[in-house]
Amino acid sequence: MFPRPTPVPPPEERALVHPDVDRAFIGALVRDFYGRVRADARLGPIFAAEIQGDWNPHLEKMTDFWCSVILKNGAYSGRPVPAHVRLKQVQESDFDIWLGLFRQTAEARCPPGVAEIFIDRAERIARSLKLAMFFRLERPSAG
Ligand code: HEM
Repeated sequence: MFPRPTPVPPPEERALVHPDVDRAFIGALVRDFYGRVRADARLGPIFAAEIQGDWNPHLEKMTDFWCSVILKNGAYSGRPVPAHVRLKQVQESDFDIWLGLFRQTAEARCPPGVAEIFIDRAERIARSLKLAMFFRLERPSAG
């Protein structure tokens, strides 16, 4: 009566994005990306206000996150939406800067065909974060 859920193949049967794309690759990409973010005039101060001192816990968390997204290995179990909704200084246009830096990093580091996969995922997730952060139904005007 109900459609059966598509069975999820065990990890060893899932197609690899690319043989070079493993946790070490993703960790290096994440570190390169956040190096660019920290050097950016607009995003740098936003992150500096949130992450004081040791960046490693954030970089490891983001490596887990991207491993979950790309390798589908379940490494990340956090909640991105509340982590961003509380960032009151972030504007919608900041996501264009974030995505531009992410695109530059992915294109610089990825084997052929792989940057597009990272960028596509980042754009989809950015869209849902932006909806959670900025979408408001217009209130009907009084009177
Ligand atoms: C202008 C855009 C963005 C800004 C300013 C921003 C900023 C931040 C900050 C300050 C944190 C908290 C760092 C910490 O305390 O560990 C964070 C966490 C995080 N961000 Fe973003 N972010 C942006 C866009 C994105 C996008 C597009 C993604 C995904 C594609 C993303 C994924 C994450 C994840 C997974 C976390 C960890 C959440 C958790 O589990 O605590 N962010 N972000």
